[in-house]
Amino acid sequence: MAFNLHGKSLLTIRDWTTEEVKHVLLLSQTLKQQRYSGVSQNIEGNKKNIVVIMQKDSTRTRSAFEVAAFDLGMNVTYIGGTGSQIGKKESIEDTAKVLGGFYDGIAFRGADHKDVETLSENAGVPVWNALTDDFHPTQMFADYLTILEEFGRTDIKFAFFGDAKNNMGNSLMLMAAHMGAHFVGVAPKEFWPDEKLIKDAKAIAKKTGAKIEFSDDPIKGAKDADVVYTDVWVSMGEPDSVWKDRIKKLSKYTVDEKVMAVTSPKSIFMHCLPAFHDTNTIIGKEISKKFGIDHMEVTDKVFRSNKSRVFKEAENRMHSIKAIIVATLGY
Ligand code: CP
Ligand code: NVA
Repeated sequence: MAFNLHGKSLLTIRDWTTEEVKHVLLLSQTLKQQRYSGVSQNIEGNKKNIVVIMQKDSTRTRSAFEVAAFDLGMNVTYIGGTGSQIGKKESIEDTAKVLGGFYDGIAFRGADHKDVETLSENAGVPVWNALTDDFHPTQMFADYLTILEEFGRTDIKFAFFGDAKNNMGNSLMLMAAHMGAHFVGVAPKEFWPDEKLIKDAKAIAKKTGAKIEFSDDPIKGAKDADVVYTDVWVSMGEPDSVWKDRIKKLSKYTVDEKVMAVTSPKSIFMHCLPAFHDTNTIIGKEISKKFGIDHMEVTDKVFRSNKSRVFKEAENRMHSIKAIIVATLGY
C-alpha cells in the first residue's frame, strides 16, 4: 500500500507503522551510500529552515541534525537550554505556534514527553523527538542501520542490558518489535518497561514475528545474542541521589567479557553513547571517587574491543536523521 510520510512528526516509533519505519531505515542506507559516493545531496533552490531545540545537552543528535540539514541545503537554527523564552516566559503551545510559522521542521529534546506532543499538536509542521525522558526514536534508525550493515538482516537476537525502562530501553523494545527481532531486556524486574508499553510492543511483534522477553539473569539473557546493547544507568535529568541505588542494583548487569563470551560468534556490542566505560570525564572522576568504580554499564575492555560498533553507530545518527528529515519534509 502506498504511503506518504510528508508532514508527519516522529514522537515515538510506536506511532509509526512497520512499513514507515522500514522505509526510513532503507532510506538511511541509501543516503549513506550516496554521501560515501560523493553524490551531492544539496538540492538547488532548497529554501527549507529547521530549528533544533535542546533543553538537555547533546553532542551526536544536535550535530546529526545540523550536518544532515546542511548537506540537504537547509538552514538551521540552534536553541540551547538557555537564551530563549521557551518554557520560561512562553508556553510550549505558544512557542509551537510561533516557530511553526518560521520553520519547516522542529527537533526538540526535553524532559517531559508531553512537551514534544504539545509542540507537535500546535506547530503545524513535523516535530522530531530528539529525546525525552521516555523515548529516543531518532536513535533507533541509526542502531538498526548499524545492525543491517553488520548482519544484512534485522531479525536478530538483541539483548538490552541495564536500565531497560529508560528512553533507550523503551524505544529499543518498540524498534525490535517493528524489526522482527528477538528482544531480551536483561535487568531486575523493577527496571523493565511499563506493562502497557510492553503490551504495545507485543502487539506490533505479533504482526512482524518479533519476540519480546525479559530476564533478570545476565548470562541467560546474553546467551546466543547477536547484539548486546547497554546505556547509562542514570539518565540526563535524574537526581544525583539515584546513583548509589542504581550502582547497587545494576552492577550485576555490567556488560563485560563474561557476558560477551556466551553471545553468538559474530556478536557485536552497541551503545547510544555517551558511555561510562572509564574515568576520563568529570562525572566519571566524581563517581570513581565516591563509589570506587572505574566503569559502570560496560567495561573499558568490551567498549574498546573489536566487537564494539559504537562509533559506527554514532556516525549513523547523521545518515539516519537525514533520512527522517527527507522522509517527513521532502527535499
Ligand atoms: N546518543 C545521543 O543521543 O547522544 P547525544 O546525547 O550526544 O545527542
Ligand atoms: N538514557 C540516556 C540516553 C542518552 C542518549 C539519557 O537520557 O541520558
